[in-house]
Amino acid sequence: MIHCEGLVKIYKTEEIEVVALQGLNITVAKGEMMAIIGNSGSGKSTLLNILGGLDRPSAGQVQVGEWNLLKITDEELVRYKRETVGFIWQNNARNLVPYLTALENVEMPMMLSGKYDRPYAKQLLEWVGLKERVNNKLQQLSGGEQQRVAIAIALANRPSMLLADEPTGSVDTRTSDMIMDIFRRLNRELGVTIVIVTHDMTLVSKVDRVVAIRDGMTSTEFIKRNPNLDQSEAEAQAAAGKSTIHDVHEEYVVLDRAGRLQIPRTYLQALGIEGKASMEFDGEKIIIRPPKALG
Ligand SMILES: Nc1ncnc2c1ncn2[C@@H]1O[C@H](COP(=O)(O)OP(=O)(O)OP(=O)(O)O)[C@@H](O)[C@H]1O
Ligand SMILES: [Mg+2]
Repeated sequence: MIHCEGLVKIYKTEEIEVVALQGLNITVAKGEMMAIIGNSGSGKSTLLNILGGLDRPSAGQVQVGEWNLLKITDEELVRYKRETVGFIWQNNARNLVPYLTALENVEMPMMLSGKYDRPYAKQLLEWVGLKERVNNKLQQLSGGEQQRVAIAIALANRPSMLLADEPTGSVDTRTSDMIMDIFRRLNRELGVTIVIVTHDMTLVSKVDRVVAIRDGMTSTEFIKRNPNLDQSEAEAQAAAGKSTIHDVHEEYVVLDRAGRLQIPRTYLQALGIEGKASMEFDGEKIIIRPPKALG
C-alpha cells in the first residue's frame, strides 16, 4: 500500500532550512494496522502529512497504491485526498462543522465528491458507537464523541487507507480504548490499511507492527511476537510487565538498501563512540566497539 524510499522533506523558511525527513524508508502492506512512534520533532507528522497529500515531498520515492506522490499533479492530488485517504488529527476542529449535526458532518465529504449516501453515513456513525447521537449538533457532543465523528468523516468516501496523527492525544483512556477498538474493527472488516502516529505506549500493544522514527529516519522496527496472541492476553502481558512494546513485540534494527543502519544515540554515548567505531565480524555476529586506542 505504502512504499517510501530515501524520502526527504526539507522545510525552507526565510532564514533556515529544516531537514524533517532525511532519507526515510518505510513499507506498509495493504490491510496492515501499524503505529509510528518517535520523539517530538522526529518527523512523524511530516511523514503522515506527505502520505496524506497535505504536504509535498522534497525528494526520494513515495508510492501509495497507484499514486506516485512525487509526480502527482495538483488535480490528481485533490482526487487522491478525497478518494484514497482518510485523515484523523488529535484535534479535529478544522474538520468538523460545529453547527451541523453529526450526520450532516459525515455527509459533507460525500457531497463534495458527489457520492451522497445517507444510509452509509448512518452506518458509519453506528460503527463508531454514535447511533443515538446522529441528529445532535457537533457542539452538543463531548470531545471524545467528536473524535469518533471525525473517524466516521474520515471514512465517508470509503478510503483504502486511514492516517491518524495522535488520534487519542486528547481523550481519556476509556475513549482511547474505544477508538483503538474501532480502528481494529475497520481494519478487520473493511480491510482498511491504518497508520497511527502515537506517543502512547499502551496503544502499541494493539497494533501488528511499530516503526520508530529517529531524526527523520526509520531506525527500529517492532513486530508482534506472536500474531496469534489473543488481544486480552497481550494486554495482560503489557499490564503485568512495564507495558512497553518489548513485552509483545520483537525488536529489529532497520537497514536501508545500501546496508546503512542507525545506532541509537544512547548506545553510542554509553560507549563513548563518536565519529567512528571498530567493527568486527566473527562469522555469526557483527560487533561494534569504540575504536581501539592508537599506538
Ligand atoms: N511547516 C514547517 N516549517 C518548518 N519546519 C517545520 C514545519 N513542520 C515541521 N517542521 C520541523 O520539522 C521537524 C519534524 O517535525 P514534525 O512535526 O514532523 O515532528 P513530530 O515527530 O510530528 O513531532 P511531535 O511528536 O512533537 O508532533 C521539526 O524539527 C519541526 O520543527
Ligand atoms: Mg506531530
